[in-house]
Amino acid sequence: MAVQRTLSIIKPDATRRRISGRINAHLEGAELNIVAQKRVRLSISQARAFYAEHAERAFYDDLCAYMASAPVVVQVLEGEDAIARHREVMGATNPADAEDGTIRKEFGLGVQENSVHGSDSPASAAREIGFFFSEMEIVG
Ligand code: CMP
Repeated sequence: MAVQRTLSIIKPDATRRRISGRINAHLEGAELNIVAQKRVRLSISQARAFYAEHAERAFYDDLCAYMASAPVVVQVLEGEDAIARHREVMGATNPADAEDGTIRKEFGLGVQENSVHGSDSPASAAREIGFFFSEMEIVG
């Protein structure tokens, strides 16, 4: 499998509880290199643009309000098969369904406050990385 990049977000429920370092330990333990990282406070309109593909879902307004409710840590992860590997380390969207040892099982509070986001395809990864980072900010 080729080396890929993917976008990771450490969400408001996690930054509020000061567990970004523990989440990063999971990522690095899975051989995902953090090649870009910054802390940002999203506006509601930035959150709505980022999650535009979910605009028709019932949870969209709540999701965007939550994502703008506290700082997030946005990251670019790089490694072999990084998109699938990251999704494996994160676990299922709903922490109640996530496997033991995954980030969402260990830290997630609920289906919305599930601590982390990860790109779900190469096309999403390219769009999501470009949403937050310029090439100059990514240092492999
Ligand atoms: P994420 O992987 O960032 O993708 C969309 C987000 O919407 C998801 O994680 C959750 O934070 C949030 N969400 C809230 N409710 C739901 C739901 N019922 N199903 C899926 N995602 C939800």
